[in-house]
Amino acid sequence: MSKSIRLALVGCGYIAQHHYNAILKCNGLAKVTAVVDVNDERTADYSSKTGAKAFKSLKDALTWGEFDAVDIMLPHHLHEEAAVECLEAGKHVLLEKPMAVSLAACRNVLAAAKRSGKVFMVCENAQYWPEVVKAKQLIEEEAIGDVYYAKAHYWESPAITDFDFDSWQYDPAQVGGGLLMAGSCHWIRPLRMWLGEIEEVIGITGNPLAHRIAANYETLADALLRFKNGKTASFTALIIDTTLSNQPYFRIFGSKGEITIGGTFKGGLTLYNDEFPDGKAFEPVHGYFASFPFTMMEFVQCVLGEKVPDVSPEYAVGEPMIMWAIYRSLSSKKWEAVGCVDMD
Ligand SMILES: NC(=O)c1ccc[n+]([C@@H]2O[C@H](COP(=O)([O-])OP(=O)(O)OC[C@H]3O[C@@H](n4cnc5c(N)ncnc54)[C@H](O)[C@@H]3O)[C@@H](O)[C@H]2O)c1
Repeated sequence: MSKSIRLALVGCGYIAQHHYNAILKCNGLAKVTAVVDVNDERTADYSSKTGAKAFKSLKDALTWGEFDAVDIMLPHHLHEEAAVECLEAGKHVLLEKPMAVSLAACRNVLAAAKRSGKVFMVCENAQYWPEVVKAKQLIEEEAIGDVYYAKAHYWESPAITDFDFDSWQYDPAQVGGGLLMAGSCHWIRPLRMWLGEIEEVIGITGNPLAHRIAANYETLADALLRFKNGKTASFTALIIDTTLSNQPYFRIFGSKGEITIGGTFKGGLTLYNDEFPDGKAFEPVHGYFASFPFTMMEFVQCVLGEKVPDVSPEYAVGEPMIMWAIYRSLSSKKWEAVGCVDMD
């Protein structure tokens, strides 16, 4: 393998701009040679920026084949087929979250990844969100003592998001659910990083946006999470088209204090303990989108054989499995075990 990788961008919509900006920060270690999208304007835009060859279909791009790895950024219901196709064609795969829309589909992707021997990573960029990483470091340094509880609060309002309610992103069939399978699942990974593995969950959902989108797409969810080590957390997700107060995204509670990560994608971390009773705000403030360059660099270095992925693909099924357990609890009205994906 040469000292850089050739990459195909598959799906050139909203998130592609963040992935592309991240590629630009990879010190020349990644070059985009193919761009794929059914939308010609979008491929033309990325072709002109990168010099990459444009394709309307993934199949045609794979037939051409002049790339080592793909970055799949498609609607969720297309993830399984696209990932399996690319792995079977011998490409390394970075796949936007969630891995797929059902456990059977995730197993299919995992099996294809195993057969291929290629690098397969789910883009769970929250793993590399600088404020989340800093919080993990502070917890390990016992800056707030023993952590016993956390609150994760995903929220979007017109203050931070331009909603397009006609998009696939509000169609339960293409998303594989509602808000739990969309943006809010990025708020689960930090909880796992800080508190450990989640054993069981119970939740409620609602849809205060039912007048604008499908009634069966939850835009509100509230869940209690119990971890294997006995710790607990609460997780709330809400998107709404009204004004909201500015709440922290995360609060982490320990025996000696609290850490908060600011709401809005701008982030910002504040530590409260005996030394800093009024809070110490850490500088610089990075924000959620600063996670993408680190995520991309992790993938590129793994493809180059310079390191092995920080987390396994099986671990990355954890977020959708937690969401599916919350969905199950809605009908059982009981705590539901999350389980784990068992592959041989
Ligand atoms: N990590 C994050 O913070 C984050 C944020 C937003 C979206 N996402 C994820 O990124 C992925 C894409 O979301 P998005 O917001 O960019 O959506 P989007 O609709 O903006 O982009 C998807 C693109 O895929 C193209 N497309 C659809 N069907 C296709 C096909 N069969 N072949 C080729 N192209 C096709 C569309 O034309 C569109 O350009 C999803 O998995 C989503 O969950 C992640």
